[in-house]
Amino acid sequence: MKILAIETSFDDTSIAIMDNHNVLSMQTYSQIKEHVSTGGVVPEKASRLHSENIFFLIELAIKDSNVKLNELDAIVVTKGPGLVNTLQVGIVVAKTLSQSLKIPLYGVNHMTAHIYSSFINKPLTDIPEKALVLLVSGGHTTLAMISSGEISILGETKDDAVGEAFDKVGKLLDLGYPGGPAVDKIFNEFTRELFEIPVPDLPGYDFSYSGIKSFVANKKGLVESHALAAGFQKAAIDQLVNKVKKAILKRKVNTLIIGGGVATNTYLKSELSSLDISIISPRGIYALDNAAMIGYTAYYMIENNMIKPEKLTLDASSNLKVGK
Ligand code: KG4
Ligand code: ZN
Repeated sequence: MKILAIETSFDDTSIAIMDNHNVLSMQTYSQIKEHVSTGGVVPEKASRLHSENIFFLIELAIKDSNVKLNELDAIVVTKGPGLVNTLQVGIVVAKTLSQSLKIPLYGVNHMTAHIYSSFINKPLTDIPEKALVLLVSGGHTTLAMISSGEISILGETKDDAVGEAFDKVGKLLDLGYPGGPAVDKIFNEFTRELFEIPVPDLPGYDFSYSGIKSFVANKKGLVESHALAAGFQKAAIDQLVNKVKKAILKRKVNTLIIGGGVATNTYLKSELSSLDISIISPRGIYALDNAAMIGYTAYYMIENNMIKPEKLTLDASSNLKVGK
């Protein structure tokens, strides 16, 4: 089955051509540089950039994959969650392609796709029957269980997402955008004693990040900024690891799937690797927002009868939830 997949939920325009589970070509344009001057993504600017670049990327992917447009079996697009304006660019292009090529259109949840991003280029049989899932990105902090494709949420953030908190702290401490990689770098290079920030402990499996972020804001100027950034990373990541440890004990699982931009954090990866669980994480470019994870997830769902073609009334769902 040959699929053309489109991802435009935030600041990456990405197109993938898939043949079943394999990526034949993926072309991504990251807008990061264009959002540095505003210290974050301005939705209108992001959607203009998506519409400027999307057709060029489609042409490139088609050429690179050697798949002709009339050989495609389906079009797949991210339908949410994300920014309405940017999602709509991808959705309109996807509808137009599906109509003109007379092939079905499928909509995929971006966060569900982050779960499956670890299996891109691998057969569907590699997906575990049951696993704990940690989704950590600029918009989400979710701990869930996945069992035979059914996702049930254990806990979520009650305020800021962990990646959002990294970005806000990066901005507060003038470390540039996005804050996550910058804070992570400081943490790794920091050899002195970091500034200790209390780790929130919400009931159950929920998370909170606004308190830690405010802690940093209140100490700004009073504490050396690198000690503060490093202390923030430790508290932010320890909170995630504490809940994962709790779930491993209570849910008796032996596999953890991680996904989302924060899953690339070096301290998170080293803390998780010391736990008694096998960790499955996406490799390289598939850890970031990308269209291959959208195409792969649609392929998995089509094969397992978990998804139906969308109607032409399909619209962006900025707050689309993952699982139950
Ligand atoms: O999944 P993603 O690429 O986009 C969505 O939000 O969907 O995640 C981006 C987020 C940003 O908030 C960024 O600061 C964070 O992931 N991030 C990191 C690291 N690399 C990216 N956060 C902590 N440590 C990192 N190394
Ligand atoms: Zn994402």
